[in-house]
Amino acid sequence: MRTPLIAGNWKMHKTAQEAAEFVEQLGLALEDVKGTEVLLCPPFTALHAAKQALQRWPAKVQKAALGAQNVHEASHGAHTGEVSAPMLVEAGCTYVIIGHSERRQAGETDEQVNAKVRAAVAGGLRPILCVGESLAERQAGRTEDVVTEQVEAGLRGLAPEEVAGAVVAYEPIWAIGTGETATPQEASRVARVIRQRVAALAGPAAAERVRIQYGGSVNEDNIAAFMAADGVDGALVGGASLKVDSFAQIVLRTEAAKS
Ligand code: PGA
Repeated sequence: MRTPLIAGNWKMHKTAQEAAEFVEQLGLALEDVKGTEVLLCPPFTALHAAKQALQRWPAKVQKAALGAQNVHEASHGAHTGEVSAPMLVEAGCTYVIIGHSERRQAGETDEQVNAKVRAAVAGGLRPILCVGESLAERQAGRTEDVVTEQVEAGLRGLAPEEVAGAVVAYEPIWAIGTGETATPQEASRVARVIRQRVAALAGPAAAERVRIQYGGSVNEDNIAAFMAADGVDGALVGGASLKVDSFAQIVLRTEAAKS
């Protein structure tokens, strides 16, 4: 059984102080959550404050994990403005989002995505590899090809055990921040394609363990349907992760749908 993973991708939102307030309130809302893993991905500058606020959660509440939204492929060096995997680990991260479409649109290539995935794993972080087709690719019937290529390129060079610990987020680009979503059936179908690809790359045991999220306009009203979709192991949530109530409801409804 795969533990569902609900991740909040805050993008370029929330100061350190806002992050601390959010985390404090979230701890109160998630008291009864047992079987769902919760992950918060604040901007780099809010990681420390989020970590400190998490440490103040009541002992009986299962701690959320922290992740970053990007990582550089080198461990250190002359890379102005970049942050490395060892730095993220020290800041309290256990996950990192890699290859989000907003970064791919800004020029990140499959090769860079793969270098970042490898650097993350080498540094002890679990990568959340984002894949997904554009509207034009979808209309051309290329969804499965695009996703397969991105999965293959992104996970290249990883050992089966490393693949098993990774997460793949299927995020159709046309569904991100638009209020439109793939149907749960589509999410399930693409998740199956991804899992088959992972099986071909890393073997059936890794494919059985790798978690596959859906992302793109997930909210408290549609989460239950996605969590009921076969092979969908959680969600990567943007806009709806910025409000404590919405995000907590998404976690609680995941818990209800999966138990
Ligand atoms: P959204 O963003 O939930 O606001 O559509 C998802 C994402 O970009 O990860």
